[in-house]
Amino acid sequence: MKELISTVKEVKLIADNVYSLTVTLPEPVGKVRGGQFLNISTGDSSRLLKRPLGIVKAEGCFVTVCFQVKGEGTKALAEARTGDKLSVLLPLGNGFILPESAKNIVVIGGGVGIFPLVPVICGNGDKNFYTYIGFRNKGCACLLDEFEKSAKLTIVTDDGSMGERDNAVNAYLKDRENVKADLIIACGPPVMLRALKTQLKEKGIDTPCLVSLEERMGCGIGACLVCVCDKSDGTKARVCKDGPVFNIDEVEL
Ligand SMILES: Cc1cc2nc3c(=O)[nH]c(=O)nc-3n(C[C@H](O)[C@H](O)[C@H](O)COP(=O)(O)OP(=O)(O)OC[C@H]3O[C@@H](n4cnc5c(N)ncnc54)[C@H](O)[C@@H]3O)c2cc1C
Ligand code: FES
Repeated sequence: MKELISTVKEVKLIADNVYSLTVTLPEPVGKVRGGQFLNISTGDSSRLLKRPLGIVKAEGCFVTVCFQVKGEGTKALAEARTGDKLSVLLPLGNGFILPESAKNIVVIGGGVGIFPLVPVICGNGDKNFYTYIGFRNKGCACLLDEFEKSAKLTIVTDDGSMGERDNAVNAYLKDRENVKADLIIACGPPVMLRALKTQLKEKGIDTPCLVSLEERMGCGIGACLVCVCDKSDGTKARVCKDGPVFNIDEVEL
């Protein structure tokens, strides 16, 4: 993990209220796993805390993140200009580690939770990915070219404006007889991950499942304990350092 001063290369609107931001680093970032994230300053010294964003692409000295504008920090990032300097801390967290034995992998993503899944699909050509992604509506859909690399891609929306009117967890469950998964990986809002955990239990699906959690963060490096979550065994974990990827049975959702 390194703290570097990056230079904004490009900020692009890619969907309703969603932007991609590519920065140039002074040195190559090295290998990054899907689920790993960076902490990025928002270009205003009055906002001291950096914002955590999943790394979508890391190639040489270029790193791309995608984000939805939520509050002041992400609004400032959306307004960044080419040449602006932003401090970044990266790569952070553990990311999705795919066992050698897992060949057929179900990928479930909801909303901005799809972003950390992109490097998993794009960086593991030896696996077959069966992907189910859900958006609020057609206008929120993005990065579909990246997900097209899946062996099978199912897109659903809350309002049915693209694909069926459904959510990503249901879309997988409806299709599960057709997919013999060795592993499930998921990232999305807490309500989606909770539904996934409940449904896997209720339906007796014992396929190993990894989920990437999103918690409010401070330092991003395990020091401040802002991001602590409850583990199923009664202990606590730091989402930034021990995660953000956990076995679904390991954490309380
Ligand atoms: C590991 C991880 C990866 C993430 N990846 C992405 C991504 O790829 N794309 C994306 O759009 N969003 C992602 N998020 C959520 C994103 O970090 C928040 O939406 C963002 O920090 C909001 O900042 P803000 O200043 O606009 O909002 P504000 O509400 O003004 O933020 C105030 C403070 O709360 C923190 N905060 C607010 N919401 C969240 C949140 N959901 N998670 C963590 N901290 C939060 C901010 O970092 C900031 O310190 C990720 C979060 C985590 C923890
Ligand atoms: S954000 Fe500080 S310990 Fe996780």
